Amino acid sequence: MPTALAQRLDAIAPSATLAMTAKAAELRATGRKVFAFGVGEPDFATPEHVREAAARALATSSHYTHVTGTQSLRQAVCTATERDRGWAPTPDQVSVGVGAKHVLFNLALALVDPGDEVIVPAPYWVSYPEQVRLFGGVPRFVETSAEDGFVMSPEALRAALSPRTKAIVLCTPSNPSGAAYSRAELEALIPVLEESGAWIIVDEIYGELVYDGFEHVSLARIAPSLRDRLIVVDGVSKTYAMTGWRIGWCITPPHLARQILKVQGQSTTNPTAVAQAAAEAALLGPRDTVREMRAAFAARRARMVAGLNAIPGVRCPLPRGAFYALPEVTGLYGIRHGEKVLSSADDVTLWQLDTCGIAAVAGEPFGAPGRVRFSYATSESVIEEALSLLADAVRSAKR
Ligand SMILES: Cc1ncc(COP(=O)(O)O)c(C=O)c1O
Repeated sequence: MPTALAQRLDAIAPSATLAMTAKAAELRATGRKVFAFGVGEPDFATPEHVREAAARALATSSHYTHVTGTQSLRQAVCTATERDRGWAPTPDQVSVGVGAKHVLFNLALALVDPGDEVIVPAPYWVSYPEQVRLFGGVPRFVETSAEDGFVMSPEALRAALSPRTKAIVLCTPSNPSGAAYSRAELEALIPVLEESGAWIIVDEIYGELVYDGFEHVSLARIAPSLRDRLIVVDGVSKTYAMTGWRIGWCITPPHLARQILKVQGQSTTNPTAVAQAAAEAALLGPRDTVREMRAAFAARRARMVAGLNAIPGVRCPLPRGAFYALPEVTGLYGIRHGEKVLSSADDVTLWQLDTCGIAAVAGEPFGAPGRVRFSYATSESVIEEALSLLADAVRSAKR
């Protein structure tokens, strides 16, 4: 069958968040007002000093760079990691790719053999299990609950370990729940992580976005015993409102960095040179825009969570970080939507979109059935208007 497609893609699903973004764009094109709570990107502009640095770089950055990032950007990652996370890697540990998603893909390629198990606490970011499956691996989900702040317990982690456990993924603060591990919660996991012998991938891309004085603690800082198999994933997308620039990185032991160099050397080569210069300026530049964005997100979080909890049938925990709320919406099941009766989070999102123009993503693909993910990377007035429409729609809905 010369026209057949490779079977490996049969096992993976398209990105649910990107699908909802496309659906919302379609509706908007018909002239409908759409409230965009689906996308995982800050609505702020990239800071001016970063854009200026990129403009200056246009004059000089028109050639290939080192495959996994310029020496100066990898050094900047180390400087920023020491400043923000309290531990000091070296540039030979840093691999810069085309966004953190690309970096995680490279890691899956470099680490996962067919049949390997990767432990993923649920709710999880949609791409982790799909990337594992792409390389024949098996995601092993560990359920967490809203009552426990969506934090995985050491007992639950221990129960999920097997001789095939190749890696354990921790996302803190988390997309989609906003959960974040406190120092004590991380410390409790360390003995089990030590026991596991597995790679530990900590996705800290939302590490700067924590609220109410919560301290984001980097596992690498408090667990030197794990550093020879600890991988930290991070990037500029969320902290510096730079989603479109596509720069992310991982910090790994040097021998893994050399494998990633091999992968990237046969695929993308270096990430865009100008974007690397911009990322360096973001990491080493003034911090006031980061503080301003964090303060804006904190105010939006308060409005989003209060607004959701004011809707009959919706219950929303207060997230510690990131910019997502993950309310339970099972109380809306039973509402009529044309010929249908709502009976899943997916049904709820389609009903919301139809009746109120609210685009948010159903929890199922995040391992959070019965919940809907609302991104609050949008203005307080938009949050208020949309949630008051939703509250009215729920009150007047037929059941
Ligand atoms: C938890 C998490 N990790 C990684 C990424 C990837 O970010 P990027 O590829 O823009 O660096 C995202 C983006 O939504 C995310 O939510």
